[in-house]
Amino acid sequence: MKPVTFNNTVLRDGHQSLAATRMSTAQMLPAAPILDSMGFSGLETWGGATIDSCLRFLNENPFDRLRALKKAAPKTPQIMLLRGQNIVQYTSFPDDVVEAFVRADAAAGQDVFRVFDALNDTRNLTTAIKTVIDCGKHARGEICYTISPVHTIEAFVEMGVEFEKMGCHSIGIKDMSGILKPQVAYQLVKELKRKVGLPITLHTHDTAGLGAAAYLAAIEAGVDTVETSIMPFANGTGQPDTARMLALLDGHPRCPDYDPAKLQELRIYFEDVYKQLSKFTSPANERVDSDILVFQVPGGMLSNFRNQLVEQGMADKFDEVVREIPVVREALGWIPLVTPTSQIVGTQAMMNVKFGRWKMICQPAQDIALGKYGKAPGPINPEVLAQVEKVSGQKPVTCRPADLLAPGLEGYRKQCADKGLPTDDEMAVLFAMFPQQVEALVKGTPAAQADKPAPAAKPAPAPAPAPASASASPAKSDGTGPLKHFALTVNGQRHDVVVETLD
Ligand code: CO
Repeated sequence: MKPVTFNNTVLRDGHQSLAATRMSTAQMLPAAPILDSMGFSGLETWGGATIDSCLRFLNENPFDRLRALKKAAPKTPQIMLLRGQNIVQYTSFPDDVVEAFVRADAAAGQDVFRVFDALNDTRNLTTAIKTVIDCGKHARGEICYTISPVHTIEAFVEMGVEFEKMGCHSIGIKDMSGILKPQVAYQLVKELKRKVGLPITLHTHDTAGLGAAAYLAAIEAGVDTVETSIMPFANGTGQPDTARMLALLDGHPRCPDYDPAKLQELRIYFEDVYKQLSKFTSPANERVDSDILVFQVPGGMLSNFRNQLVEQGMADKFDEVVREIPVVREALGWIPLVTPTSQIVGTQAMMNVKFGRWKMICQPAQDIALGKYGKAPGPINPEVLAQVEKVSGQKPVTCRPADLLAPGLEGYRKQCADKGLPTDDEMAVLFAMFPQQVEALVKGTPAAQADKPAPAAKPAPAPAPAPASASASPAKSDGTGPLKHFALTVNGQRHDVVVETLD
C-alpha cells in the first residue's frame, strides 16, 4: 500500500485556529523554505480568514503574501480554502466576481483550491469549481462533515459522486469541528473509495482529541492524504501535530517518511512565532475538550459564547444557549456549522434564549429559512418558515441563489476607479469583499483606522422588520480576531454579538 501523504496547514488553519489568524508574511517566510523541503503533498497557506486578517489587522496585500510564499516555497503545491460563492466572506457574490477571484488567485500562483459550501449545496460550488478547472488548477470538492439525522454516510458519498461528475480532481472531507469519530472516518473513507475514483484528503481539528485517531482510521481505510500542522500551532482547535501523527504511524505500512530533524527545526522556529503572537493565543484553544461531542458545537464557538455571555451579563445562560444550538439547526434544516452558518446559528440561539424562542429572527437566519444561502440539507421547520414569510413578506427561493445576483465585477471596478484605486481583477475582487480595508491599504492609512463598521453588506437584502423589530448588522471589530460582529438592535436597544470564524 502507498504511504499516506501529509499536507501541512501551519501557515493557514494552524494559526487561524490557534492564534486568531495573526501570523504575518514576515513571520512565515523564514519557515517557508524548510516547509518546502519536507516533501509534503501540499501547504495550506491562503484563504479562509487569512485574507480578512491580512487586510484588517496586518496591513498586508494577501496576493503579495501568496506571491512571496510561492517564491520561498516553489516546489510544494499551495492550497487555499474557498467558501464557494461566498469567496472568503459571509455572503454570496455574483458569478463574475467569483470567477475573477479564482482567475486572479490562479494567476498569482495558487495551485489547489479547497472549495466548500456551508450548506453542502453543490449548486453554490459550480462556478468556483468550473473556473478552477478552466484555469488548469486542482479543484478539491469539500464535503462539510456534520452530525444530524439527515447527514448519513450515503448522503456524503452522494456528494462525492457529484464532485466527480463536476470534474473535481480530488475530494476533501472537512471536519471543521473535530467531531468525526474514528469508526465513522473509516466507514466514510471506505464508502467514498468504493464509489468514487478520486483521491481523498481528510481535514480535521483536534478539538475533542479525536483528530489523530480519526486520521489513523482513515489511513487504514485508504485515505490518500491527511492534513497536519506544526506545534505549537497544532492540536487543540488546530490540526494534529505532524510529529505526533508520525509517531502514531510508526511501524504502520503506510507511514510516510518526513525528516524528523527538519520537523524539530520547524517546531523550534514556530515556538518563537507563537510567543510573539501571545496576545492572540489562548489556553481555551490549546486544550482538548470533549464538550463539543456532547453539544456537537465547534470548540471555537463554545469558548467564544462563554466570553460573550459574560459580557452581556448572561453568564448563567451558557448551558441554555448551547442547548439551543441544535434546536436552531434542526429548524433551519440541520445546516452544518461552518463559516458563515456557525455565526448565524450561534446568533439565533442567543436571540432565542434572550428574547424567547423564535420571538425574533435575525436577518441571516431568515435568509437561510428562505433558501437564500442555498438548499438546506433537511426541511425548514414549517412554523419558523411561516413566521419568516410573514415578517419578510417574501417567499422561499428555489433556484440557485447566485442566479438572482446581477453581474457585479464592473461595478466594483468602477468604484475602485472612483476612489483612485487600481482597477485590475485582484483589486476589484478584494474591494468587493473588504472595501474600506483595501482603500486603507492602498492609500497607506493605518489598518486600524479602516476598522470601522462596514457599509451595508453587499448583496444581502435589506433587514426585514421582525416581530419585535430586531435587526442584525455588521458592527465594528475589537481587533481580537477574525470574528464576525453583529450589532443587534432590539426594540431600540443595541446588543453587540460576536461569533467566531470557523473554517
Ligand atoms: Co479547518
